[in-house]
Amino acid sequence: MQGKSGYPGLAVCIRPALSSYLRSDRRVLVERSGFCENYRRTMKANQPTVYGVTKIAQLFPSIRKIKNKSLREKVAAVWSEAITTGCGGKGWTFAELRAVKFTLLAGDIKMTFVEHLNSCARQCTAIADVLKKSFRCSIPIQRDYLIAGALLADVGKPLEFDKDASGNVIQGKFGQQVRHPFGGVALAYKHGIPGEVLHIIATHSHEGDKMERSIESIIFHHADFVDFDIAKLLGKRAGKK
Ligand SMILES: [Fe+2]
Repeated sequence: MQGKSGYPGLAVCIRPALSSYLRSDRRVLVERSGFCENYRRTMKANQPTVYGVTKIAQLFPSIRKIKNKSLREKVAAVWSEAITTGCGGKGWTFAELRAVKFTLLAGDIKMTFVEHLNSCARQCTAIADVLKKSFRCSIPIQRDYLIAGALLADVGKPLEFDKDASGNVIQGKFGQQVRHPFGGVALAYKHGIPGEVLHIIATHSHEGDKMERSIESIIFHHADFVDFDIAKLLGKRAGKK
């Protein structure tokens, strides 16, 4: 090949070198202006925080008992979104979420919302173990769905709850419009959670009383109300003192 200069191959040599120089020169100018760093910072600030399995397991260790990796990751993704978008859109810190009382309906009792969910997940596993030994027929319990359902049944509550001007946790406007089983199903459906688990979220509370609950949902429903009924009783007793 012969370039316009008349020297064979000169254009072939010069063009790539020139364009490489211009590219690097432009990069230097752009970097000196601080554009890259500012751009990186802006992009990072605009990116929503996403908590993975490791981080969510700090709140809910039972998530590690979900054997199916994809389901485990989806459960973490649902919780991540509930934490970062709840509280009337302000999001919750982990410390704030840990401080939320188990239920707003039971008075001042020594159990938190996070402790309640962990209690239910552990109860569900224990109940499944007992039933497996007690029934003479084999009970088809899908453990992964049971644990995922136990951990996600109340995932709508971070959306349902808000804080008032004094920082007290209250039922927010969204919570008054959409109770947590509905908010939880919507959020979980968005992240591809299977129907068996959506069913547990949808039917775990009174909303499910008119439906035939699955075995996993029956187990969770009762574990949930073991905690709830005891909490209500303790709250009542504490109120009388
Ligand atoms: Fe609930």
